[in-house]
Amino acid sequence: MEARFVLLPGDGIGPEITAAARRVLQRVATRHGHTFEFDEKLLGGCAIDEFGDPLPQSTLAACRTADAILLGAVGGPKWDDPNAKTRPEAGLLALRKELGLFANLRPIKAHRQLLDASPLRRDLIEGVDILFFRELTGGIYFGESRLSEDGRRAESVMEYTTHEIERIVRLAASAARERRNKLTSVDKANVLEVSRLWRRTAARVMEDEYPEVDYEVVLVDAMAMHLISRPRDFDVVVTGNLFGDILTDEGSMLPGSLGMLPSASLGESQPGLYEPIHGSAPDIAGEDVANPLATIMAAAMALRHSLGLEAEAQSVERAVEVALNAGLRTRDIAGSGPSIGTTEMADAVVAAV
Ligand code: IPM
Ligand code: MG
Repeated sequence: MEARFVLLPGDGIGPEITAAARRVLQRVATRHGHTFEFDEKLLGGCAIDEFGDPLPQSTLAACRTADAILLGAVGGPKWDDPNAKTRPEAGLLALRKELGLFANLRPIKAHRQLLDASPLRRDLIEGVDILFFRELTGGIYFGESRLSEDGRRAESVMEYTTHEIERIVRLAASAARERRNKLTSVDKANVLEVSRLWRRTAARVMEDEYPEVDYEVVLVDAMAMHLISRPRDFDVVVTGNLFGDILTDEGSMLPGSLGMLPSASLGESQPGLYEPIHGSAPDIAGEDVANPLATIMAAAMALRHSLGLEAEAQSVERAVEVALNAGLRTRDIAGSGPSIGTTEMADAVVAAV
């Protein structure tokens, strides 16, 4: 098949890890007889520097017509001025909104080979396999937000409509049906009106449309605790934008390193956006030490969800396992053992595809 990827390397380690993923995709194309085209565009801090806009029109236009979008990471101290007119993160939020990418899938799965890299005890995390569905284009991220004239009062409104809740719950419930048939919805319904609407709406969807799925609700503060104390009990978890942001960072510690986790952001029809969960790590940018595996596995998710190439996606995931089984580790997952760089890790995965 022919497919066009838009690559958004972004800032910090972004260019290094997307270059690694691009090489893996290129290898997949050669092995399986596909033609992949790659179109690199600016997003985030680098786009502010070049165009004064974290999401330039040229980037948005290219993304709209892509088959899949692969993003590195955006942001860094250079653009951290709290008084700045715009920030790199605004580009990412605008891209999600413009493309209608309301569903953010974040799989949290412990790799057998890395159990000892986790700060948590091995017996707690062995076998963990959670798929988060984070609502991505609503909630407090996109509600009304303002600062009073005198600068002494600010507000950010958390807002959801039944339509927004229904569509993300449906996706999550459908995914649960294909997995271990369990869905957990996370809210703060004991305090927030918006969460009470979330809870009623989710319950109705589950009762009417997914009666066979094992369904439970958990308050977000309790979830923060259960995620650490009994992570194996969860299969699919669905929650709003802010709670999902926080819980998935927490969950990312289960497998040991943030450097191992990919994510997919999907909408009704637009191309999907694929990225590692981790940030731009400006402290190690340009040093060829960043772990490219999250981005490489994000590329695998793109093959699966946007191009329908399941066998190819699995070949990439298996290649990552081969590299790990061979004992290859980047610094973040090496513990006190020897480590290799970004390029060398990419070489190993490319060779194993
Ligand atoms: C994430 C990030 C973003 C978010 C930032 C960079 C805007 O933390 O994708 O989880 O909060 O959504
Ligand atoms: Mg986050």
